[in-house]
Amino acid sequence: RKGVYSHFMRKEIDEQPTSLRQTIEGRIGDEAALDAFPPGALADVETVVFVACGTSYHAAMYGSVLLRRRGIFATAMRANEFAHDPTPLSDRTLVVAVTQSGETADTLASLRVANASPARTLAVTNVIGSSAAREADDAVFIRAGPEIGVAATKTFSSQVATLSLFANRLECDGAGIGTALGREEIGDRDTAVGLDASADRDTAANSDRSADSDAAEGTIAARRATDGGTVSDAMRALPDDVATVVADDGAARLAERYTDADSYFFIGRGVGYPVALEGALKFKEITYEHAEGFAAGELKHGPLALVTPSTVVVAVFTGRDDERTLHNVREAQSRGAPIVGVGPESATEVRDAVDQYLSFPDTDPELAGILANVHLQLLAYHAAEIRDRAIDKPRNLAKSVTVE
Ligand code: F6R
Repeated sequence: RKGVYSHFMRKEIDEQPTSLRQTIEGRIGDEAALDAFPPGALADVETVVFVACGTSYHAAMYGSVLLRRRGIFATAMRANEFAHDPTPLSDRTLVVAVTQSGETADTLASLRVANASPARTLAVTNVIGSSAAREADDAVFIRAGPEIGVAATKTFSSQVATLSLFANRLECDGAGIGTALGREEIGDRDTAVGLDASADRDTAANSDRSADSDAAEGTIAARRATDGGTVSDAMRALPDDVATVVADDGAARLAERYTDADSYFFIGRGVGYPVALEGALKFKEITYEHAEGFAAGELKHGPLALVTPSTVVVAVFTGRDDERTLHNVREAQSRGAPIVGVGPESATEVRDAVDQYLSFPDTDPELAGILANVHLQLLAYHAAEIRDRAIDKPRNLAKSVTVE
């Protein structure tokens, strides 16, 4: 039932604080089990291959970034490619099928290929009793509740949150064969929020400034240093942080402002890259406007040729590597493109550099992509509403794609 809402999509966007609470309940912390996986259960996993389609593929990509940052070799493949051209698989490979419905034919075909190999398989799905849940060796449920709108919204957030918990479980279990390059830097993920993070780090390393004096400055870095905060703390705060974004009317204003662009480009790096792809997918799917997502650093390798004053560039910032993304933004800005930044509240340097800014509460950069994405869901929703599109049932699309 839509109730007071005119579309299921809008209802499902608004439901995200609740659906995320369901997703994470009882699953946070080093000793927490994740459905089939008690501590230690994933110790012998060396490599992880995600297979998925569409929005679920973007969540899978996001998950693969989180695993690589933990020293675990991980890759995400589109299921329609993997099913007919799989990567090499061994008994130390875990193939993870990410699928909201658990019935997507391409994803099931990939799962069957993996089941016929020595690899172990896992379904990450929303639907208990779905084909994916039944056919994989194990299943983890994202607990988002039913999603009616064809455009996936709350299930993306719950997929990413689940994959973040899964990444922590794998890391605690000692999975993987490698050491993440720049692991030291990754250790800083708890402190790297906003453009000043590296400066903060340097200062902290080079002086005996106490955590307490950092705290006086009120930075997230300081909060973490004093209360021992981790990704887990950020995860606990996530439902409330999402509620803040859902209550923000910034995306509605921007949808009104940019109605006549030729194209909408979405860019990001790290976990911001899959979020850029997802932002573009949602936008094209329900507005029927031309939208594309790119890795921010890829713009100059071709797409920049398309950038004009009629290209709106939406740039995702997570509080990690933001200087680099800002550099890519300037490449587009100097061609006259209006820039919409989506990033943490405290990233003042970003805010000052872009034309419009949609902010979200400061959080761990690994989870920032979830918050940024909620703004992008709202941007697509309002842009589609202005154009009077069939938001819950976009033309040519179905909720569950059961043919290959
Ligand atoms: C886009 C969307 C689709 C699905 C894709 C996979 O908004 O919903 O791209 O994500 O068809 O579906 P599932 O997750 O059910 O395998």
